[in-house]
Amino acid sequence: MQKNRMSKKAIRNILPRELVNWDVFYLPTCDSTQDFAAQLFKKHKRGGILVATNYQTRGRGRAARSWLSPRGKALLFSMILLPGHAPSHLHLLTVTAALAVCDTLSKHLNLKPEVKWPNDVLLGGKKVCGVLTELLKTKSQKSAVILGIGLNVNQSASALSPDFLHKATSLFLETGKTVPRIPLLGALMKSFEDYYFIFQRGAFHEIIRRWKSYSSMLGTRVTLLTGNKEVQGALIDLDDSGALVLRLDTGKTEAFYGSDCRFV
Ligand code: BTN
Repeated sequence: MQKNRMSKKAIRNILPRELVNWDVFYLPTCDSTQDFAAQLFKKHKRGGILVATNYQTRGRGRAARSWLSPRGKALLFSMILLPGHAPSHLHLLTVTAALAVCDTLSKHLNLKPEVKWPNDVLLGGKKVCGVLTELLKTKSQKSAVILGIGLNVNQSASALSPDFLHKATSLFLETGKTVPRIPLLGALMKSFEDYYFIFQRGAFHEIIRRWKSYSSMLGTRVTLLTGNKEVQGALIDLDDSGALVLRLDTGKTEAFYGSDCRFV
């Protein structure tokens, strides 16, 4: 199935070029597209680079977890971006990518995705996609970021580890059909560019408004790990600065900032 076969040419042909003139690297196998992208940044010191692979031997997720996927079954790629915003807003870039995935799954495949803040996309409560945003060291004030996306596309139930079967899913399992990866990547990147444009012009309220439309977490009781402290309460808002606003069990309302917050 040609539309599923990854190659540099196939990827270049479907990428949008309205906002970014992507320079594409395709590796049939690599350790991690994040690491490969970091090496490219060291060498070329520029953004607008997309690294995709068919298989990772050391794929990484957040919190030092590994990200596993059998060969040829997923979308696995990283982008080098120079967003130019202060690092305090970068967790919204993670949200931006998760929203782009949600738009793609709902428009392209008629699915009903949800965002689990900030970086997971769920279908029917199970994780189908993760986003990893890593800040690179630069000499200038401007931030450089490697944003990696791992989307489970054509994994069968046996390809998902039994430990994760109750927590993870793929597009194949949700639709009952093989989903060709190339057009899916094209649709996802088009959607990502649309959201990235919103992010670049600093319209964070718009990103937050859209996050709210894809989130089932507002109003629910959550446990948040912030730094090394766990807090519990009801998630009542995501404010315009991107802070999570919780009504704590103590009755106090408090805002939590930054990408070191995660739900447990
Ligand atoms: C998470 O949910 O913890 C984030 C997972 C991110 C996985 C992707 S796959 C492509 C890129 N390369 C990696 O090693 N990780 C990211």
